[in-house]
Amino acid sequence: MEYETKIETWNLNLYYGDFLALKNVNIRIPHRNITAIIGPSGCGKSTLLRCFNRMNDLVEHIKVEGKIFIEGQNILVPTTDLIYLRRKVGMVFQRPNVFDLSIYNNLRFGLRIHRMLKNKNDIMQAIENGLEHVGLWKELKDKLRKNARTLSLEQQQRLCIARVLILKPDIILLDEPCSALDPVSTLKIEELLRALRTEYSLVIVTHNMQQAARVSDYTGFLYLGQLVEFGDTDQIFTNPKEKLTENYISGHFG
Ligand SMILES: Nc1ncnc2c1ncn2[C@@H]1O[C@H](COP(=O)(O)OP(=O)(O)O)[C@@H](O)[C@H]1O
Ligand SMILES: [Mg+2]
Repeated sequence: MEYETKIETWNLNLYYGDFLALKNVNIRIPHRNITAIIGPSGCGKSTLLRCFNRMNDLVEHIKVEGKIFIEGQNILVPTTDLIYLRRKVGMVFQRPNVFDLSIYNNLRFGLRIHRMLKNKNDIMQAIENGLEHVGLWKELKDKLRKNARTLSLEQQQRLCIARVLILKPDIILLDEPCSALDPVSTLKIEELLRALRTEYSLVIVTHNMQQAARVSDYTGFLYLGQLVEFGDTDQIFTNPKEKLTENYISGHFG
């Protein structure tokens, strides 16, 4: 497959204590596309995603072996600036994790942590751009002081995406971002992700195969911590190379 690489892992192993959760994973995530990671529950999807911004570092008794390159830099070296890494590799979770703060302050939060903008007008402009980007500006522009938790779940998830975008990331990791949403909201979020792929490299974990097929350009199938197959989404879903992939996508297990 010919594509520009954004993230690449070499022989990646991850242990939780004695348990080997990722087994010799070699994956090459493309630049400015959507990559879906599919597989049954417990197979290591979230673990793999969290490797890409070293969120697993927060877990105790963890050991990581191998290499993870982002734009050619191995992020597993001890000198990696984790705060900067997590800004460039943003993350969106299953449940919208909006803070118990106003919409304005939810968006202001990361800018403050990263000391990005000081001038009030610049901050307001960044907040407007962020909300505009996720299709919320029109509906929320007069309600910026409202508590973000009063928004619908779909709006909250959009706000979480805006909160990532405002920090100017290159990569956006999404861990089952629609699993708390109804089907209509799910389709709307998928539409937003499709629009974002021209500017960002997105990696979405999902156990919803229809979603992976609808939204992604490339798909990796993970099973028991191993990357069984990686390819064009169309190829994976219509003509998988591995029997295991075929069994999974045709619903024989998982
Ligand atoms: N913090 C942890 N400590 C110990 N084991 C964990 C931890 N997080 C996940 N695991 C185990 O690692 C495996 C992969 O988990 P996970 O990455 O969450 O899978 P998925 O996202 O595909 O459901 C599972 O067996 C899970 O129980
Ligand atoms: Mg998971």
